[in-house]
Amino acid sequence: MSSPDVTQAEEDAIVAALRSGWVAPLGPDVDAFEAEIAAKSGVQHAVALASGTAALHLGMLEVGVKPGTRVISSTMTFAATANAITYTGAEPVFVDCLPETGNLNPELLRRALEQAHSDGATVSAVVPVDLLGQACDYSAIVPLCEEFGVPLVEDAAEALGATHSGRPAGSFGTCAALSFNGNKIMTTSGGGMLLTDSETLAARARYLSTQARQPAVHYEHTEIGYNYRMSNLLAALGRAQLRRLDEMIARRKAMRDRYKAIFASVPGVTVFQGDSDAHDNYWLTSIVIGDDAAFTPAQLAAHLGGDNIESRPLWKPMHLQPVFAGAAAVVDGTSERLFAQGLTLPSGSALGDEEIGRVTTRLAQFLEQHV
Ligand SMILES: Cc1ncc(COP(=O)(O)O)c(C=O)c1O
Repeated sequence: MSSPDVTQAEEDAIVAALRSGWVAPLGPDVDAFEAEIAAKSGVQHAVALASGTAALHLGMLEVGVKPGTRVISSTMTFAATANAITYTGAEPVFVDCLPETGNLNPELLRRALEQAHSDGATVSAVVPVDLLGQACDYSAIVPLCEEFGVPLVEDAAEALGATHSGRPAGSFGTCAALSFNGNKIMTTSGGGMLLTDSETLAARARYLSTQARQPAVHYEHTEIGYNYRMSNLLAALGRAQLRRLDEMIARRKAMRDRYKAIFASVPGVTVFQGDSDAHDNYWLTSIVIGDDAAFTPAQLAAHLGGDNIESRPLWKPMHLQPVFAGAAAVVDGTSERLFAQGLTLPSGSALGDEEIGRVTTRLAQFLEQHV
C-alpha cells in the first residue's frame, strides 16, 4: 500500500554517515536534517526524534498538557495521536470530522470547547490531525483555539509537503509533529520531528528527549526525561529522502489521478478528499463506496486480495476503539460512516509500472463485473 521508496541515493547517504564516524546517536546529519525540514515546513526550529509519537508526546508536554486537563483531538486518526495524549495523563475528547475530508469538524470542535467551558474543565491543547496528507481547515481552527485561549498542537505526521492557504502543514499552532515511519510519504525507517517557531520550546524538547540531563559532568537530573532523539544514521537517510520528496509526491499524485479517472464514472463511488486535494501530499488514496454503489468495500477488497493486492479500511475512529471506550466524544456519525464505506488503495511512490498495471487491471476487471 505504501512501502518505503528507497534508492541508491539513500544507501549512499547511510554509508557516508557510517564512514564519517558519526554513528553514536547525534551528529552533523541530525543538525542538517533539522535545518532542512524546518525550512521545508516554514518554521524556525525542528527537533529530530525517534518517532512521530514521541514528537506528539513532547509537544503536548511543552504546551502544558497534564493530568486533570482535557485534550481535544480528531477521532478519525491513527491510535498514535490518542496514545500520546494518554501518556501525559490528560483525558482525550474525540471530535468528529467533515465528510469530504475526514479532517476535524470546526463546528463540533467549538461544541467540545464550549462543553469543557460549561463543565469548568481546562482544555490544555487541541490536536487536529492532517488526515492522509490533507491539512485541516486551519482558517477556521486557529481562530477558534485563539478565542478559547487553547494551544494548538498540529498532528502533521501524515502531511509533510502539504499546504493550507499557502502555508506548509506543520507550521500551524504552537508546535507540530511529523512522522518518518516506514509507510509515510518519506521515511527514516522510524523517526519523527517536532516543529516550532519557539526557540525555548525547541531547546526544552532537545533537553527532555535526551534524558533531561543538566549540564554537569556527572549528569545531574532535576526532572524526568526521555530517550527520544533520532540517530545520525537515520537522519542521513532522511536527508536523502527529503531530496526526493517532491518527486515522490508527484508519483503519489499520479496514482491519485489514475484512481480519479478509473472511478469517475462509477456510480456511488468517490475518491476521498478528491475535490479538495490540490495542495495535498497525496500520502494515501482512499475511495468512499456509498450505500448506493453496486458493490461493497469488502467485495472490492476481497477481489484485490485475490491477486495479493493490499487495501484496507480508513482508520477505525478512536471513539470506537475498545481501549478508548470510556473517553468523551463529540460525534455525529461521519467518521463511523467513513470507516464503514472507505477503502484505501495502493498509493506508494515505490510502486513500479508493472505493479500499477496489475492494480488497475484488477480494478477494471472488478468494475466490469459489478457496474
Ligand atoms: C496521524 C498520525 N499521528 C501519529 C503517527 C505516529 O507516528 P510514528 O509512527 O512515527 O510514531 C502516525 C503514524 O504512524 C499517524 O498516522
